[in-house]
Amino acid sequence: MTKVFAHRGASGYAPENTLEAFALAGEQGAQGIELDVQLTKDGEVVVIHDETIDRVSTGKGAVRDYTLEELRRFSFHNHKKEYEGVQIPTLREVLEQVKPGGMEVNIELKTGIYWYPGLEEKTVELVKAAGMENRVIYSSFNHYSVQKILELDAEAETAYLYSDVLLNVENYAKNTGVCGLHPAVYHLKMADFLESYRRSGLKVRVWTVNDEADMRQFIEKDLEAVITNYPDRALRVRDEVNQ
Ligand code: G3P
Ligand code: MG
Repeated sequence: MTKVFAHRGASGYAPENTLEAFALAGEQGAQGIELDVQLTKDGEVVVIHDETIDRVSTGKGAVRDYTLEELRRFSFHNHKKEYEGVQIPTLREVLEQVKPGGMEVNIELKTGIYWYPGLEEKTVELVKAAGMENRVIYSSFNHYSVQKILELDAEAETAYLYSDVLLNVENYAKNTGVCGLHPAVYHLKMADFLESYRRSGLKVRVWTVNDEADMRQFIEKDLEAVITNYPDRALRVRDEVNQ
């Protein structure tokens, strides 16, 4: 059965990439969460999507120009008044919080703009320290980062992220030891890649699926997961499909 992953947590309701959004994902019944990681100035792995804090917090500037302690001074409520005061979480904190609930965790390494030397090593260490190796999927638009993860942990579950169509992406993934594909929803809507993806046996988790008709299509095709800002909506659609 297609799993429902909460994109940046249940970010349609709670501020993205916060402990509150991940908790809500669990309460809504998601099977997994997706989150983005970057490094602070003092080398802490923090969970945030943009390379700057401007859009989601009360501060301004680049994540990598602040220490963790400095980032803690800002509120990351992302214009949702009722969440004022929520802080940026570290990856360690998120893993600790979600571990008891059993959700899977898709860690997206945000190494597209800055390469953040050491991010892959630190991320793998944190996952191992939490004892969550079997519940984590590492992905990145930077495929070098994905390969770095495999060098660090040959058993790691990995996936290639991509927005535009990649030719022969199934062979590319298989030939480079990657078992997951994370394509953008709009590319799957442009052409019929679904059958080819299904035949490949790779684990396809499509993002960001917020539209009910799209959810239904991917759930009916039995993809590995839909990654959505609205896990409750996807779970309802899944119930309808499986009735
Ligand atoms: O990992 C799926 C999705 O999060 C990739 O795009 O920009 O939302 O991180 P983005
Ligand atoms: Mg992401």
